[in-house]
Amino acid sequence: MDTFFISTPIFYVNAKPHLGHAYTTIVADTVSRFHRLMGRETYFLTGTDEHGDKIAQAAELNAQTPQQYVDAISALFKTMGPQLGAEPNRFIRTTDKDHVATVQAVLQKVFDSGDIYFGEYGGHYCYGCERFYTEKELEDGKCPQHGKKPEYIAEKNYFFKMAKYQDRLAEHIRSNPDFIRPDSYRNEVLSLLESGALEDLCISRPKSRLEWGIELPFDSNYVCYVWFDALINYITALKWPGGAKFKKFWPGANHLIAKDILKPHAIFWPTMLMAAGIEPYQHLNVHGYWLVKDTKMSKSLGNVVEPMDMIGKYGVNAFRYFLMREMSFGQDSSFSEEALVGRLNADLANDLGNLFSRTLSMTHKYFGGKIPCPDELEEIEDAEIKKRGQNAMAAYQEHFEHFRFARGLESLWELVRGLNKYIDTTKPWTLFKEGDTKRLSTVIYIMLENMRKIAVHLWPVMPGSAVEMLRQLGIEFEPEKVNLQKELDAWGLLDSGGLVAETSNLFPRVEPLAVEAPSEEKAPKAKQDKAPKKKPAVDAQGNESGVVVAEFEDFQKIDLRVGTVVSVEKHPDAVRLLLVRVDMGEAEPRQVVAGLAEFFEPDDLMGRQVVIVANLQPRKLRKQISEGMILAVKTDQGMELLTASGTVKNGSKVS
Ligand code: MSP
Repeated sequence: MDTFFISTPIFYVNAKPHLGHAYTTIVADTVSRFHRLMGRETYFLTGTDEHGDKIAQAAELNAQTPQQYVDAISALFKTMGPQLGAEPNRFIRTTDKDHVATVQAVLQKVFDSGDIYFGEYGGHYCYGCERFYTEKELEDGKCPQHGKKPEYIAEKNYFFKMAKYQDRLAEHIRSNPDFIRPDSYRNEVLSLLESGALEDLCISRPKSRLEWGIELPFDSNYVCYVWFDALINYITALKWPGGAKFKKFWPGANHLIAKDILKPHAIFWPTMLMAAGIEPYQHLNVHGYWLVKDTKMSKSLGNVVEPMDMIGKYGVNAFRYFLMREMSFGQDSSFSEEALVGRLNADLANDLGNLFSRTLSMTHKYFGGKIPCPDELEEIEDAEIKKRGQNAMAAYQEHFEHFRFARGLESLWELVRGLNKYIDTTKPWTLFKEGDTKRLSTVIYIMLENMRKIAVHLWPVMPGSAVEMLRQLGIEFEPEKVNLQKELDAWGLLDSGGLVAETSNLFPRVEPLAVEAPSEEKAPKAKQDKAPKKKPAVDAQGNESGVVVAEFEDFQKIDLRVGTVVSVEKHPDAVRLLLVRVDMGEAEPRQVVAGLAEFFEPDDLMGRQVVIVANLQPRKLRKQISEGMILAVKTDQGMELLTASGTVKNGSKVS
């Protein structure tokens, strides 16, 4: 059986978890679930990195022993997993006994093979980075990461002959193009190796300076350098050397990190593995940073995003979806609560939520909630939507295999939106009115079966929501019975006659966050009062235009949205009016009575996207209900419709 191993970095316990740690954990959990559904046996590893100067100093600051201190913070990381919906196979700590033993075994093996030597070294040591810097690496004599002047330390230490492996590693990277992905990181590492700048690595710290570490098995006056210790966690968990898990999972080993720790993972770790006689891991997957307003999150800037706050407000499934959909894997991304709410409303409440609520309610309205038995599929529209489903899911799987989550989800959403459109073109409400039960059954079945497939594909990203979606379709989800690869060609797995839920409120819309008012409006009241009163608007001829100035709050009340015209009829009692049905991404299209008959034939309007005032009080115009107003511009030639410059999702808000 194929296997898949995924690890997160083991996190330092010198601060509590934040958005960055949460993101890496969610990605690891998502890929682990994805591979499980692809039919592979998976192992997902996370944990905490607990030795070293940083931790010893943080413990001292907190008036605790290092052990007390690491126990407390490690527990915060351990509970973060379940709060994020993540289910690791092991939460490893570098203070775990089996880890200490594995580190000592690796050290001994490399020492015995002659790749560790004792020597004197003088260097610029940065306590923040826990490493020595060469003169060349410093910027203005300061650490490039921390901006502080490192301390010059000269002492005797043990060194790992890392430079010896420079060419072998470069060759390995060249002949395994996706060893480090995405490419930009691979190129960065390769050019470093090709520049010939690799030096040997100092892997010990004298106990006289630091005691909080793993003792070297061959010299009790020293402890192991924290990175050499920490990286080995990945094989401790698999019970190297003799463990069955090591044999099973190491060939499919994937590490997941952010770009901050590229060098230890791309250079230290594979060379350490080579020296210990172990094959390098399969892939190193590197993501970018989550930024806040384009700056790095940091405690001192006070802009650290607390994942639990977001989960408390919007739910863990929406939070996971947002992170996976928003970040292009490999690149930096800016986090904002406004963007999260935007996606929650557009992608989840509108596209996916409406797909479920409208289809389930139609199944109840037309079939008493029972999944109908489909008739023959129609050549064109049914076969087309089925094919579209297959393509979307194949693309999703291909993208997820390569850590391109945003693109994978976008492919799936093309299907979600395609299905919403399919309802509008097949018009189940008309089929029902016409008593065409055969066709109606087929249309509803196609919808429900595709919804089942979508839910299964979403389980890696939104496990809770996927289980609920499937429950609403009358299915109890059992991951071990699902295989996504088989889902591509599978059709008709949803049993006719089964009962679906009557309602589905998967993702209730949330109020969009108020846009921050410009600084002028935020000025203290007293100051505003003193400001000169604004003059009335004046037009190009210098005449007062008489334009009524709307307050910002008044404008904010108007909800303008984009929708697609899905049917147009002439008003039975008024020659100037048309009955236009517009898909606004809601359960059913809205009817708008529009005074457009003079300017447009019904066919001219079909399929066009229009801007609608969406929150007008509905009213009757010549006995026909109108639920909005279409915006248009009068020109010398007639009338032009207002629209977005490109196609947008139905229901998108104009802002
Ligand atoms: N202990 C080392 C890793 C040892 S692995 C053998 C370490 N720990 S850390 O707590 O600093 O975690 C770094 C990792 O946290 C990053 O590689 C990334 O996975 C995650 N993130 C921390 N801040 C981040 C962002 N702002 N954005 C995205 N992820 C980031 O380094």
